[in-house]
Amino acid sequence: MDTKKKKLVFLTGAGMSAESGIRTFRDSNGLWENYPVMDVASADGFARNPKLVHQFYNMRRADLLKAEPNEGHRLVAQLEKDYDVYVITQNVDNLHERAGSSKIIHLHGELMKVRALDDESKVYELKAGAIETTPETIIDGHHVRPHIVFFQEAVPMIEPAIEIVQQADIIVVIGTSLVVYPAASLLNFASPTAQLFYIDPNPAIVPSRVTVIKKGASEGMKELIERL
Ligand code: APR
Repeated sequence: MDTKKKKLVFLTGAGMSAESGIRTFRDSNGLWENYPVMDVASADGFARNPKLVHQFYNMRRADLLKAEPNEGHRLVAQLEKDYDVYVITQNVDNLHERAGSSKIIHLHGELMKVRALDDESKVYELKAGAIETTPETIIDGHHVRPHIVFFQEAVPMIEPAIEIVQQADIIVVIGTSLVVYPAASLLNFASPTAQLFYIDPNPAIVPSRVTVIKKGASEGMKELIERL
């Protein structure tokens, strides 16, 4: 008999990568404490000073190259043995990929990719050793920009993400303060019968039907697996 695997959907944020040494945004010493978000991660900021924005993402790429997936990423990937797993992440790092997850939606873009300024369908993967870009960089004959969803820009992957959440049997939110929309609204699309979990050492307020595991990503994933 074909035992259809249950659909298990993860919604992850910066806290998922905290144990890999990647700074979150809104914790103490978070990224937005040191960089004015509207200068380095918004459409207006990019129009005003593209050099500064390229430098900001060059710095974040350099940090990412020094990071490894943590046990939380690996436990998420290992669950593909027993579940039909989707990872919907706000993170632009590639740690879920490097841990072995195979179905990933990046709502806010991907740090190791850039795209042509004059043709957003032309996306290029940057390789280690050539991760720095400037407003003068030319790839395949095009000037490029970070393949990141800046503040003030639309989130093109939100529709497919909503559809996946609506079909989920189990939804696990990990490491997000749930303050940035539309990503933060995804939990509202859960079916009434879905089991909901939230792993975060300092969790935001969530509906009472959500089981909160007040732990970091790795320890929280171990407790989740015991509860599944
Ligand atoms: N394990 C799990 N969660 C953790 C850990 C950890 N070790 N350490 C911190 N956290 C939690 C914090 O408690 C917080 O709830 O991770 C969350 C980080 O919240 P934010 O810094 O706001 O990150 P995030 O929610 O992903 O931000 C959403 O905002 O700036 C934009 O585009 C950016 O994708 C980002 C979006």
